[in-house]
Amino acid sequence: MNGLVHRPWNPDAWRRQVFFLLLLALANPAASSDKVWRTTDDNALWRSECGSCHMAFPPSLLSGAEWQLIMSALDQHFGANASLDPAARQEVLAWLQRHSATTRASGQSEELPRITTRDWFEAKHRSAIRLWNRGKIKTLADCASCHQGAGN
Ligand code: HEC
Ligand code: HEC
Repeated sequence: MNGLVHRPWNPDAWRRQVFFLLLLALANPAASSDKVWRTTDDNALWRSECGSCHMAFPPSLLSGAEWQLIMSALDQHFGANASLDPAARQEVLAWLQRHSATTRASGQSEELPRITTRDWFEAKHRSAIRLWNRGKIKTLADCASCHQGAGN
């Protein structure tokens, strides 16, 4: 014999590992989304103007056409007045569109497009939406309250 000890598969150790991984996943549920918040490019106007009432939502979460809709109605922006002067509006719109998603959401019924009503968002946020329906969360749009990488 060459001294190698044969170690049989140990189901308890395996279970411990799976349990540990599960704990990790639960402790940091939104960790895998980090790349959404990291924009490779930045725009100071977007960050300051579109981040004053809520976090500056990542441009990649809506299509260029959807950003156009949003930027065309800033005076009636989800019940708020988010107007910009024409030059600023144009700069922010161009920047948003340059970094926008390539696909447009289907089945949007609202006038203004939302990130939080898209199919992928609803699929990823079932439990959050349940909490929101029960009034435990004020708004789903406060991404940073759950996503550590968001908002700065
Ligand atoms: C004066 C305050 C204000 C400013 C400035 C503002 N917003 Fe908003 N925005 C709101 C409010 C209020 C909502 C609705 C939030 C909610 O439903 O909880 C909203 C919602 C949104 C949503 C939809 C979020 C969702 O539910 O998916 C998008 C997208 C958005 N804003 C983009 C922008 C962009 C782009 C700018 C900059 C040009 C901007 N906002 C500037 C107040 C503002
Ligand atoms: C109440 C907590 C909560 C809020 C608010 C919230 N999220 Fe999430 N989000 C989560 C959790 C938990 C997951 C992980 C779900 C999963 O992996 O199935 C997630 C997953 C995601 C994912 C997918 C990540 C991946 O890689 O699978 C994206 C993208 C995302 N969220 C973006 C947003 C954006 C944008 C907002 C704000 C408009 C937001 N979230 C608001 C809790 C939240």
